[in-house]
Amino acid sequence: MRRAMADAEVGDDWYGDDPTVNRLQKRAADVTGKEAALFVPTGTMANQIGLRLHFRGTGHLVVAEADSHVATTEVMTSAVLAGIAFRPMRGDARGQVTTDQVAEALEPDEYYDVEMIDLLAVENTHGASGGNVMALEDLRAYRKLARDRGVRVHLDGARIFNASAASGVDVADYCAEVDTMMFCVSKGLGAPIGSLLCGPADLMPEARRIKILVGGAWRQAGVLAAAGLVALEEGPGRLREDHARARRLAEELVAIVPAGVDPASVETNMVFVDTAGAGMSALEAVRRLAAVGVGATISGGRVRMVTHVDISDDDVETALEGWRQIVAD
Ligand SMILES: Cc1ncc(COP(=O)(O)O)c(C=O)c1O
Repeated sequence: MRRAMADAEVGDDWYGDDPTVNRLQKRAADVTGKEAALFVPTGTMANQIGLRLHFRGTGHLVVAEADSHVATTEVMTSAVLAGIAFRPMRGDARGQVTTDQVAEALEPDEYYDVEMIDLLAVENTHGASGGNVMALEDLRAYRKLARDRGVRVHLDGARIFNASAASGVDVADYCAEVDTMMFCVSKGLGAPIGSLLCGPADLMPEARRIKILVGGAWRQAGVLAAAGLVALEEGPGRLREDHARARRLAEELVAIVPAGVDPASVETNMVFVDTAGAGMSALEAVRRLAAVGVGATISGGRVRMVTHVDISDDDVETALEGWRQIVAD
């Protein structure tokens, strides 16, 4: 990947003439089955452009699961950049909602005629619940409900390749059910930076305009696109290894952290650990793990560990040893 970056042919992406960026965009469109794609620095920017493309006006609403990235981490960005407010739906432990919840959330405001729903935003895999996979049939059902109401659908597919590796559903099949989608080459796929917003060709000039508007015209970005191309080529095929390592980590943690993990809940590359049974807070656990050389973060009050291209079997052993130490201390 470093070699590909060093050798990358570059131009100026503001003018749309960076050949490596253009190749990555073409490849992303092909893989997702969309007409066009736009390479941007972050998943947040890709989501924000996606939301804004469909958003018709300040004071309108986007329907999304309450813990989804757009409705939590991006809630202020959405308000500031586009005047978006959310109508949240409370998902289950896997971050999934029922079709009844979606139908209710999309219900037109017949009494007051004030609440306008412009968009349904979905997330697959669902990050905050632990990297859980959305069933294709559910996405189809949401899509039908949205279409019946004249509402478009945007997919935050930051980790859609993990969803695909776990479910066996082709990425393009998920993408066929939504108007726009984004995925990150920077997460499980292993590139250092970058995300792609994918959708219909007629939306791309406006998407490009918004990207430039928010300072995303990143000049000779081909150096990064080259990494994205390698990630897209080599990444998807090895995600199952990450999933197997996450599962192993969870299975072994059962004997280390009392009532800490349910291995069956590990569907992709994330392991969430409840530390209450070990008599410590998540914050304390993360600090103590860091002190023994194990990196972890906190999500929803639990310790969050993620396997990826740079995590080997030995690293899983190191993590398990770290947990043994902090629980024993
Ligand atoms: C589901 C989801 N969407 C979007 C993002 C945003 O990606 P980025 O960190 O590249 O802005 C993240 C980041 O973790 C995420 O988990």
